[in-house]
Amino acid sequence: MKKTIKDYDLSSKKVIIRCDLNVPMQDGKITDETRIKASLKTINYALDHKAKVIILSHLGKIKTEEDKENNSLYPVSVRLSELLGQEVIFSKETHGPELETKVANLKDGDVLLVENTRFEDLDNKKESSCDPELSKYWANLGDIFINDAYGTCHRAHASNVGVAKLLPNGIGFLVEEEINKLDEIINEDTHPYIVVMGGKKVSDKIKLIENIIPKCDKLIIGGAMAYTFLKALGNNIGGSIYEEDSLSYCKNLVAKYPNKIILPVDTKVSSSLDSPTYIVKEVGTFTDSDIGFDIGTKTIKKFQDCLEGAKRVIINGPMGVFESPLYQEGTKAIYSYLTTHNIKTLIGGGDSAASVKQLGFDGKFYHISTGGGATLEYLEGKDLPGISVINNEE
Ligand code: 3PG
Repeated sequence: MKKTIKDYDLSSKKVIIRCDLNVPMQDGKITDETRIKASLKTINYALDHKAKVIILSHLGKIKTEEDKENNSLYPVSVRLSELLGQEVIFSKETHGPELETKVANLKDGDVLLVENTRFEDLDNKKESSCDPELSKYWANLGDIFINDAYGTCHRAHASNVGVAKLLPNGIGFLVEEEINKLDEIINEDTHPYIVVMGGKKVSDKIKLIENIIPKCDKLIIGGAMAYTFLKALGNNIGGSIYEEDSLSYCKNLVAKYPNKIILPVDTKVSSSLDSPTYIVKEVGTFTDSDIGFDIGTKTIKKFQDCLEGAKRVIINGPMGVFESPLYQEGTKAIYSYLTTHNIKTLIGGGDSAASVKQLGFDGKFYHISTGGGATLEYLEGKDLPGISVINNEE
């Protein structure tokens, strides 16, 4: 068991909390505040225990000076302040006298948010390469380090791994909850255990498939990645997206697990995503100009039949181009089936989480992970450096 924030006396201590406040933004406005809200429990706990809270987070990727303009955490500090109901002091500097003075002036129960840690990447990728000097500098600002940045746990950066190595440390409530929920669904010995995968690329999911397929009872494959499987089995998929390099992998996988892999039997096709109409075609009847954008009615029924009686389900990737009203039916029908049948379902992956929100299923599943890459790597069976670095309880 990892040490947690609850293992420390926080009173009057400078507590560095690494959050994942990497929220989507458009024109300086936050378009989804899930990650800010998910960070509140740990921040509030520290404030209730009279800590001086120093928050570190990255936002986006910083490769040029111009990237800094669109990736300031300042708008996040404004929203965080509203959600906490108190002022959030903001440091425009990621290092330097302004930051040091603001830290020195913190009173018990104050919150300071430091500007995007990846601004340091303009200096030899100091944050992303876990630079020891930068890690030491940030560690010197605090007394205790708490990692609550679940979505960043697959990265070994200065602000999560480097600082953790140098201070008494623990995980926050979000990391604890994410790991507990993932462990429970992965390890619980209940069956049928069904995994539903979608999304574009098979190659991005090979490690996940390899780790999960021996353990699950069925692997349902929808989304664009299904077309690589269908082509590998000799079907004409018209102009649908597929990956040439993954064809032989898919063919061998189906040969190895013929009863586990469940593929679409019909799909919604059109000549382009911009076209206002589609038709449903059975697999094997595509013409060269057909492009598949969602699963069809027979496939929805086939997938739902396969989910009948499931005891646990992991969803990783949507069934179609859910962003378009024409192609959200497949994803919606699967979510609807799972929620109305109260099937214990974990949603993992950025696109799946976005589809759950957009299609109105927020709050209806057992767990919707806040992690994209972190959840994928955890499900692949990898150790996450942001968690491994945290000390175990004595
Ligand atoms: C995420 O959004 O998955 C995390 O915040 C990590 O971001 P990154 O992929 O830019 O490292």
